[in-house]
Amino acid sequence: MTATLELTRPFDAHLHLRDGAALDATVPASARDFAGALVMPNLAPPITTVAEALAYRERVLARVPAGADFTPRFALYLTDRTAPDEVRRVADCEHVLAFKLYPAGATTNSEHGVTDLAGRHAVLAEMERQGVPLCVHGEETAPEVDVFDRERVFLERTLAPLVERFAGLRVVFEHVTTREAAQYVEGARAGVAASLTPQHLLMSRNDLFVGGLRPHHYCLPVLKREEHRRELVRVATGGDPRFFLGSDSAPHARGRKESACGCAGCYSAPAALALYAQAFEAAEALPRLEAFAALHGPAFYGLAPSAARVTLVRERWRVPERLDFTADDAIVPYWAGAELAWRVA
Ligand code: DOR
Ligand code: ZN
Repeated sequence: MTATLELTRPFDAHLHLRDGAALDATVPASARDFAGALVMPNLAPPITTVAEALAYRERVLARVPAGADFTPRFALYLTDRTAPDEVRRVADCEHVLAFKLYPAGATTNSEHGVTDLAGRHAVLAEMERQGVPLCVHGEETAPEVDVFDRERVFLERTLAPLVERFAGLRVVFEHVTTREAAQYVEGARAGVAASLTPQHLLMSRNDLFVGGLRPHHYCLPVLKREEHRRELVRVATGGDPRFFLGSDSAPHARGRKESACGCAGCYSAPAALALYAQAFEAAEALPRLEAFAALHGPAFYGLAPSAARVTLVRERWRVPERLDFTADDAIVPYWAGAELAWRVA
């Protein structure tokens, strides 16, 4: 059996770092193993302009450990008030790569999200013209739609018509969780891609309830049936450049997860690369991990892959039960206390 695996340093195409004291934990965790990331804008208040993203970038860079090779890039939060001018500013800024569409009410800090996509046509047309990608949290928010059907219904009602109407718009269907989403992206026109998280490759919805309610496995879109997980593994490991690593590492302090109304999000960054290696090895696809983790995402965003390398060694280790987070609370990483077969050297 292979004992080491050397890869191009990977790119995390979907990462939540938060702000303030949390950055002391989150930035070093990603900077250790990743060459770069597309950092999500759902702060409170959200990052809606290039100027805000550049100020946030300074706060992030201040936490990159000396000597670490990590380039954060940013997405802007699309709101009902985003103007076409802002799209042109994104096109001119190397640090900001995309807009993120959160349907209002879909997830953490999405209350500023878009309420009426039909009213955003001028902005979407400008994104299409400028080649600025739209990253999409693809969940229908109408309350009568079953939580496990939200992604499929969003695809039918919103995403597929959007991709057709703006035939040149570059679109990333973020953190896909269903067979329908995976197969849609596989067969979609050029310029449509999808990111995949470690939790959706490794777990099904049963894992939310093993031995009791498991708040640290709860994220949005919620985990789906095993048959969906298998399909996600198939597309992730199949070598198709439309599919790439986007961890959606989404830290929330322990008390906010272990709560009567727990937050959605898995803090996977401290073990992300080893988690993906676990999923790829289970599918006998380790030779395809590098392209998924380090080449396809940069290629979609027009970035050069990292020139640096990272080495995984076959060595069992346990993800820590708890890590430091803010002054008042610790954080429980995804996969806490469980074993992984690969460790980043
Ligand atoms: O589980 C999630 N957590 N899904 C999201 O879309 C947002 C994220 C967060 O920011 O906590
Ligand atoms: Zn996210």
